[in-house]
Amino acid sequence: MGSGKFGVYVPEDLMIELSRCMQALGIKSRSVAVREALNLFILEHKWRYGGKVTGVLGLVYDHEVNDVDEALTDIQHKYLQNVISALHIHLNERDCMLLLVVKGEASEIKNLLSELMNLKGVKLVRPLLLSAEK
Ligand code: NI
Repeated sequence: MGSGKFGVYVPEDLMIELSRCMQALGIKSRSVAVREALNLFILEHKWRYGGKVTGVLGLVYDHEVNDVDEALTDIQHKYLQNVISALHIHLNERDCMLLLVVKGEASEIKNLLSELMNLKGVKLVRPLLLSAEK
């Protein structure tokens, strides 16, 4: 496939943010910004294609919600082969950040991710995963 061109409708608020972002990054051409955004979007989701992936799952959770700490520990033990390391940071009186360094098949990491997302008390799960495939 050769190069391509397409028109995209962009709402006003996103347009304003785009201009702000381009200014901050010193990008003058909208095409350059959109190409960069597409590259980031693809990089963000590429691990989902399958194969081996490595990276970090970042979580924010409310540790005062019943049993959430125990549930998080159980899940890490269940995914023993995938969870390499964990870092716990106390954010404030209630919220904790948990960073899980993970590795394995994309399908396994997807399952782990969905278990974490569905836990009561977990406010946010943000994957930062890179495909180990080309
Ligand atoms: Ni904590």
